Amino acid sequence: MGIRIVGIGSYTPERVLTNKDLEKMVDTSDEWISTRTGIKERRIAADNEFTSDLAVKAAQRAMEMAGVSPEEIDVITVASITNDRVFPSTACFVQKKIGAANAVCFDVQAACSGLLYSLEVANNMLKGSSKYKTFLVIGAEKLSTIVDWQDRNTCVLFGDGASALLLKKTDDDKECILSTNLGSDGNYTDILHLPAGGSAMPASHETIDQRLHYLKMGGREVFKLAVNAMVSSCHKALAEANVKASDLAWLVPHQANLRILQAVAERLEMPVDNVYVNVNKYGNTSAASIGIALDEMLRGGKIHKGDLILLTAFGGGLTWASTLLRWC
Ligand SMILES: CC(C)(COP(=O)(O)OP(=O)(O)OC[C@H]1O[C@@H](n2cnc3c(N)ncnc32)[C@H](O)[C@@H]1OP(=O)(O)O)[C@@H](O)C(=O)NCCC(=O)NCCS
Repeated sequence: MGIRIVGIGSYTPERVLTNKDLEKMVDTSDEWISTRTGIKERRIAADNEFTSDLAVKAAQRAMEMAGVSPEEIDVITVASITNDRVFPSTACFVQKKIGAANAVCFDVQAACSGLLYSLEVANNMLKGSSKYKTFLVIGAEKLSTIVDWQDRNTCVLFGDGASALLLKKTDDDKECILSTNLGSDGNYTDILHLPAGGSAMPASHETIDQRLHYLKMGGREVFKLAVNAMVSSCHKALAEANVKASDLAWLVPHQANLRILQAVAERLEMPVDNVYVNVNKYGNTSAASIGIALDEMLRGGKIHKGDLILLTAFGGGLTWASTLLRWC
């Protein structure tokens, strides 16, 4: 028995918000944003377009690529920090909208590492039980709803989007996921978080007046922690599979900031041409970003059978994750 990624899909909303547009909203400049982050523009979902709607469009594209019908799907997970509602799960909304009547549905909360955490869940559920054969992993975010559009430190960084990976058990013994390294450090819960709206600080007039329903971040500290955590996690995932960084066809990092990507690549001694970058077009789409990158790469003919691809992510929690794939 093997496990294979049989379909990938992604969706980014139509509306483009450029750095020039942001110049009219906060005290910033295209030059500052471009040089500090590499981001030129990001996508913003329409008011009536929810996280589950973005997820559905990505999922439908993945199902179409794989030739899998909704009824065949056994499990759906959605990784997100911008769920349609606190509960029920966004995965249940997706189930209803795509008509996946036979699926078990739940959300995964690991911030920007969510898609790779979900892949580990999928890999183990598929391997561990004969009940599950087809698994839809989704990362979807409408970050524009939790970004403080008055805070120039954060609002320039994020965008909306979704991606979906469809995994299937196969009859051969080809393993698509060669190794996974996951990690978390709850000592840093307060450097990247959304303070209000949970049980620790329910919504009140005061929380709204103090703008506590928006994402807060210590950017400089996150930057350093992100680079260290991703590099160390990549080394562990490579070592577990006895693969060297020089054997990789691609490094696909979570698209947070071009400077973070470059620092990780340099420390792994990966040539920049083998590091996939699209943060310039979408900004940081959190749990969706790696899947959007993979979808672009696959449809753009950049991934070939046998390629070794290392995915790596970092996010609030703190959480980090690396997944080594052999494309098959
Ligand atoms: C946020 C980030 C881009 C800031 O870049 P930086 O080089 O670290 O910049 P600094 O924090 O040193 O800030 C430099 C100055 O620019 C200012 N600044 C911040 N945002 C600005 C903006 N959008 N436009 C203009 N100036 C800005 C700051 O106020 C600061 O001014 P000061 O020196 O007068 O206080 C960078 O730290 C980063 O990307 N961190 C990681 C964020 C991330 O990826 N988070 C998600 C992880 S999943």
